[in-house]
Amino acid sequence: MKLVGATLGLALGFSAHAGQADMIDTDSLKPWETCALCHGLDGVSRMAKFPKLANQPYAYLVKQLKDFRGKRRVNDGGMMADNAGLLTPETLRAAARYFSEQPAPRPSGVKSTALGQMLFETGKPDASIPACNSCHEANPPDDQVYPRLEGQHADYLAKQLRDFQAEARTNDPNKVMRRIARRLSDAEIAAVANFSAGLKRQ
Ligand code: HEC
Ligand code: HEC
Repeated sequence: MKLVGATLGLALGFSAHAGQADMIDTDSLKPWETCALCHGLDGVSRMAKFPKLANQPYAYLVKQLKDFRGKRRVNDGGMMADNAGLLTPETLRAAARYFSEQPAPRPSGVKSTALGQMLFETGKPDASIPACNSCHEANPPDDQVYPRLEGQHADYLAKQLRDFQAEARTNDPNKVMRRIARRLSDAEIAAVANFSAGLKRQ
């Protein structure tokens, strides 16, 4: 299997010129090593446009990878469709297992507010917004399909909420996140994303 250097360069933030599209032989790589450039080998990505994968429940990772493959999740700027498409059922599970077993990322140093905490822990019952942690548990089992929000990049979380709101991300079962996200204001999205990102995982 070959990956074009230009794709890798793009992910690192520099552009490769046509003539120097060097090829990287991926045959000898472990299935998760091709993911490392964007997501980090430890699953803790540096840039907020790439989600942290470390310590997410195995079942959540498997579902997302299958959704990217099946084009049920398409809000990734086309970057994941190709990567997930290269996986076989076996390497897909191996990559998900590997990242689920990486140590939890540290909380992101973002400013959290009382509004963010209220949404996360209590919700806003009068606006039919449930508490986020009623589904996004602190200690999800391995077969959980709710992702952990604690310690994720705040900007990534906010983008997902905007994507659910705008129906750019539509792979949530029974529209569960689309229904919640469309009730959130911009200020509430920023507040709850920052609050979650700043929480330490258990
Ligand atoms: C070129 C960069 C790039 C590479 C390489 C890459 N990804 Fe991704 N990945 C992304 C982007 C971008 C997103 C989604 C961002 C968004 O939704 O805004 C994403 C999202 C994901 C998600 C969803 C996470 C969540 O919290 O919902 C999973 C799981 C994932 N990638 C796994 C992998 C695996 C496994 C590999 C290797 C086989 C891989 N990725 C390789 C860029 C990449
Ligand atoms: C009724 C259950 C439920 C509640 C309550 C809930 N969520 Fe979710 N959320 C989900 C599910 C299920 C997914 C995964 C959807 C999928 O399969 O892609 C999800 C995914 C997400 C994601 C995407 C994370 C990622 O790694 O890509 C974000 C962000 C999110 N929820 C934020 C919130 C916030 C903020 C709240 C509270 C205002 C909230 N959720 C309340 C069920 C819930």
